[in-house]
Amino acid sequence: MSMPPPQPDNSSALPFPDWMRSVQTRLDAALGRYLPPAEAIPARLHQAMRYASLNGGKRVRPLLVFAAGALSDAPLPRLEAVASAIELIHSYSLVHDDLPCMDNDVLRRGRPTCHVEYDEATALLVGDSLQSLAFDIVAREDFGDSRRQLEMLRLLARASGSCGMAGGQAIDLESVGKSLNQPELELMHALKTGALIRAAVLLGSLCGMALGAAEHEALDRFAKRAGLLFQVVDDILDCTASTATLGKTAGKDAATAKPTYVSLLGLERARELAADLRQQALGSLTIFGQASQRLIELADFITQRKF
Ligand code: IPE
Ligand code: IPE
Ligand code: MG
Ligand code: MG
Ligand code: MG
Repeated sequence: MSMPPPQPDNSSALPFPDWMRSVQTRLDAALGRYLPPAEAIPARLHQAMRYASLNGGKRVRPLLVFAAGALSDAPLPRLEAVASAIELIHSYSLVHDDLPCMDNDVLRRGRPTCHVEYDEATALLVGDSLQSLAFDIVAREDFGDSRRQLEMLRLLARASGSCGMAGGQAIDLESVGKSLNQPELELMHALKTGALIRAAVLLGSLCGMALGAAEHEALDRFAKRAGLLFQVVDDILDCTASTATLGKTAGKDAATAKPTYVSLLGLERARELAADLRQQALGSLTIFGQASQRLIELADFITQRKF
């Protein structure tokens, strides 16, 4: 793969909070460029797409893209493209997740959900359009190797579809009022949340030099553990944090009889599981040494986050 010269600001020199802010700022600017202007026809749809994807969100998946990209010296423009694509698919998944036919939520990232601010039909089309834009962005970026680029597009497609995020959402909806066992719950979480997180890590690394087989396997193991960890913590926060802190309605899982790690294990064992998954995720990174600093910091951030 041909490589433009590396750029300095994905280096390990910045303290973690500053690095995080720099990636978030970079991502917001990239999304602002990729999204159609608010006044372009059909303006209401374009405004709603911007409403659903700008100004908010922790941007965890983009942070993972940049952190994994640091392992393969990936050039920043490629990371920006891949991080934007994944964040757009994530934002689309949230717009649809909040619809009355799914979780029926009125608050997201501290603001009215997309269908409340606009209307249900617009929210459906926002989801459709954000997803299409994501693939457009990855397809039009120059990755210097078209076979690798096709592989990346397939990875993103599989992580988003019925064997990934959308499939996990289907299991989530089928499971309301049921008590799943631990392997069933793990599968649901691995799909609905884990698949996109795994894609963020793998696609970030694919933006740069090819990793060896052992490194790739270790990174994949990290990505799977981190994805599950992310949803276990989401389940814990749903029943321990306030609506004001979360920026979304707290207590929804219990109120709507969703099986979660808290309903299965209780709060204390769910917390222990989160700590175990963090350890397993970190254990997978030893092969990378210092180069995995940002991934280590992100695993801690995902474990300790308050919203
Ligand atoms: C919320 O994701 C939905 C889940 C997959 C658990 P995030 O917690 O990453 O939401 P934002 O993007 O920061 O709002
Ligand atoms: C959402 O899981 C997962 C996806 C959007 C794919 P949740 O339904 O638990 O997410 P929140 O809690 O509404 O953010
Ligand atoms: Mg849901
Ligand atoms: Mg939800
Ligand atoms: Mg949740």
